[in-house]
Amino acid sequence: MNAISINGNSLVYSQRGNGRPLVLVHGFPLDGTTWDDVAARLEGEHEVIVPNLRGFGGSTAPTSFYSMADMADDLAGLLDHLGHSKVALAGHSMGGYVALAFAKKYAARVAALTLVSSQAAADNEERKAGRYKTAEDVAQKGVAVVVEAMAPKLSADPKLQAYARELIARQSAGGVVGALKAMAEREDLTGVLKAAGFPLTLVHGDADALIPIDRAREIKALNPSALLIEFAGVGHLPMKEAVEQTATALESMTQSKM
Ligand code: MLT
Repeated sequence: MNAISINGNSLVYSQRGNGRPLVLVHGFPLDGTTWDDVAARLEGEHEVIVPNLRGFGGSTAPTSFYSMADMADDLAGLLDHLGHSKVALAGHSMGGYVALAFAKKYAARVAALTLVSSQAAADNEERKAGRYKTAEDVAQKGVAVVVEAMAPKLSADPKLQAYARELIARQSAGGVVGALKAMAEREDLTGVLKAAGFPLTLVHGDADALIPIDRAREIKALNPSALLIEFAGVGHLPMKEAVEQTATALESMTQSKM
């Protein structure tokens, strides 16, 4: 693990392997270690870069509001630091929101994009209010609030639920609160995908209890050149539930050309 100071925060990241640069962005309320199994399969032919977003996995976060675009700026800062002008990028769930914000602001730096169990739409008012309520609860009671709310929804596999409970419990309350607010305020970035000037892949489990597979199918309908890879019986954690298939999808993405 390495850490650098970017935009006023300490950003922890891992970098392994050599070859085509590939950035893997984790989801909420998790950290970069969720990508470990997939990264191990890709590091032979890729330089795999896994950042821990603000407030997760030991990265620090400000107490003031920050947005998906701010976290996209952190990624840009990390890539500058590593000397990469252009990379393939995959984002899991909230990591997909950050990757989309990155694609909006830094389109020329995106060689290819994969959204894993993610979506492009913004929250509706009800969802937004729910995020603020959860943020308040977490600020008062700590991350235990999201441990119980999230773990059963991430995967139907009891072993992975236990894994998720332990992982979420390690995250900082400040990071969880900041991410909830950033997700609540994120904009609809469907337009970025509709007009994507880079190869776009959508990886989604059809048993995802958090973000229904229809969100990925809707993106595919808007942008028929996108490659939609559906995993039967897989929930919200394809990188843990379908390791080989997820690694294969990402490997194809880094070889794809527009
Ligand atoms: C995630 O898995 O990153 C989040 O559940 C996404 C969300 O809540 O919208």
